[in-house]
Amino acid sequence: MEHGKQVELIHRVLEHLRAGTTHMVEDESRLPVAPYLQPERFEAERRLFRKLPLLVGHVSQLAEPGDYCTHNATGTPLLLCRTASGELTCFLNVCRHRGTRLVPEEQGRRKQAFVCPYHGWTYDSTGRLRAVPDEAGFPSRPSESVGLVRVPVAERLGLLWVTLEPGGPDVDTFLAPVAAELAGFGLDKHVAYQPSRIEKKLNWKIAIEIFLEAYHLKYAHRESIYPLFFNNVGLVDPLRPHIRAIFPKRSIESLAGTPEQGWELRKHANILFQLFPNVLILVQPDHVSVSTAFPMGPDVTEYRTLTLIPELPATEKAARYWQKNIEILLGAVQEDMAMGESIQSGLRSGANEFVRLGRFEQGLRYFRDELEARLGGRS
Ligand code: FES
Repeated sequence: MEHGKQVELIHRVLEHLRAGTTHMVEDESRLPVAPYLQPERFEAERRLFRKLPLLVGHVSQLAEPGDYCTHNATGTPLLLCRTASGELTCFLNVCRHRGTRLVPEEQGRRKQAFVCPYHGWTYDSTGRLRAVPDEAGFPSRPSESVGLVRVPVAERLGLLWVTLEPGGPDVDTFLAPVAAELAGFGLDKHVAYQPSRIEKKLNWKIAIEIFLEAYHLKYAHRESIYPLFFNNVGLVDPLRPHIRAIFPKRSIESLAGTPEQGWELRKHANILFQLFPNVLILVQPDHVSVSTAFPMGPDVTEYRTLTLIPELPATEKAARYWQKNIEILLGAVQEDMAMGESIQSGLRSGANEFVRLGRFEQGLRYFRDELEARLGGRS
């Protein structure tokens, strides 16, 4: 993020603090409850996901030739590889014989080949079928014509994006509204540390929405991270189809009256980018957390987090430092998810036909307006 933009955002925060206000829109609004519950809605959203660039990893997870990782949360089993020549590839993780999951583990490094655990058909990291045991039984000679099914994959901003079906935006067009700001944080120069994955009983939209406002900080995080922040002070701006939110820390007040040249926003605020539909990039003072919320059912979500740090810890002390940071983040996430699961069961009760959004909960409005527009409806 350019320094001028950081200064502009800090001035906006300081002005709200002086006035005792927060960034708000004109009016409150409502969201209907049904889209959090309906199976047909879940199916429509999964279809939409298939046409959008989906974040499935970080470039450091495929740093060396032979590195591979798998990803199952999109609803389509994926195998991502770095080939011997350095090319990034992605395939359906499905054997072309009778459909067995070719690679069951989450990640690894293989110099040689992927051998199907069922009958031993063997593929290389370019997807080519190299060997078929007893191929005389297959007069069609599959080793000469069959390979793993390719999935389009791209590396942008140090992140790995796949598109499961054609017909949607290309990845550069899609990321353009946030690309310059995110490029400034050098995500491609980080390494992914301790990936985590949790499954929660809530709709994926709730897993995104709980991070898009500062209204809950004082109550949901009273004993954990709230002491660092203000009560319900934030900036939430649409960078359509994405959103940028700034949640200032109390230390930001110390900048008032100091030379602007020394101002650095990430030291005094959590900077959150919500990339449509299901990505949350949280920029903190010395690291970045990248999370994705994948719908697994109308009320089941897989929430994955990669902690991006400047380099792998070289000492015990450094490892303890990053471990502590991860625990703090995941502790706050667990508090948010507990609220989210509570919301999900509350919505299912029928108590509310709609939920109410305050004027400072505009992030949820922006997110849902974008989603509804792409689904062809209106929330
Ligand atoms: Fe893979 Fe048979 S299903 S070799």
